Amino acid sequence: MTGATAGIGHVFAQRLAAAGHDLLLVARDHARLEAVCAALAAAHGVAAEPFVADLSQDRDISRLADRLRTESRLACLVSNAGFGTRGTLLTADPETQRQMLRLHVMCTHELVSAALPGMTERRTGTVIVVASVASWSPTAGNVNYNATKAYQRVYCEAAATELEGSGVYIQALCPGFTYTEFHDRLGSGRTGPPRWAWLSADRVVDESLAQARARGAVVCVPSKRFKCIVFLLKHAMWVLGGLRQRYRRDRLRVQ
Ligand SMILES: NC(=O)c1ccc[n+]([C@@H]2O[C@H](COP(=O)([O-])OP(=O)(O)OC[C@H]3O[C@@H](n4cnc5c(N)ncnc54)[C@H](OP(=O)(O)O)[C@@H]3O)[C@@H](O)[C@H]2O)c1
Repeated sequence: MTGATAGIGHVFAQRLAAAGHDLLLVARDHARLEAVCAALAAAHGVAAEPFVADLSQDRDISRLADRLRTESRLACLVSNAGFGTRGTLLTADPETQRQMLRLHVMCTHELVSAALPGMTERRTGTVIVVASVASWSPTAGNVNYNATKAYQRVYCEAAATELEGSGVYIQALCPGFTYTEFHDRLGSGRTGPPRWAWLSADRVVDESLAQARARGAVVCVPSKRFKCIVFLLKHAMWVLGGLRQRYRRDRLRVQ
């Protein structure tokens, strides 16, 4: 479980510990990770091992992938750690953008690739990759976030076709706005979207795990309201794109 100390990842860790699973929990903040592991072990009587790693760095991604390859008890991988940024391609810090690409793209691929051989050999396993509703929404100011979340979703959808009949289930969890530390870290707070648009991390994780237990669809979009939003994004984007182009053309003609 990556990104296990806060938000969605922390709820996944709580649910899996409550179900009696031993855990390998990953994050960068050592003290916080130790505290989360100790609390989960005490509350649920499971083993919770801290694995301190910055998964935006190649060396740490490899270290964790090596560990997963040799973990014969690995039943479930939750690749969840992620972050957002502000600013356009011209203004955002280039190194932070590279870190996002390594964390959302390279790390996802390396961890899933490391987990699959053992899972397919044992003919059982669950992989959950936390993507986002943003994977359907190409908007300004989020270029690499949208693109890397789309990568994660399509990666799972394609991998699921390869895993058919293998006993291994893969899910792209695509939440909308969720109350976590994500927007605080981003510096945007929780004031932008209306209150109805926000989900709790508990709800997101419970819907994901229920769908995983049922071996349901690959893509999981928690809540009816975000299922509707995704439907609109999927089917209206090209209409909006066309209207925007026409509007721009008309404006150019007027000028
Ligand atoms: N919140 C939302 O509205 C929302 C919506 C859609 C999708 N998501 C996705 O959900 C996932 C989890 O986000 P969240 O909202 O739960 O965020 P969060 O509350 O900020 O938690 C992020 C977790 O990831 C860890 N982390 C961050 N960068 C890391 C790195 N480089 N290496 C290792 N661990 C790292 C953090 O711990 P350390 O800082 O100690 O490393 C923390 O445990 C992300 O992939 C995000 O894109 C969130």
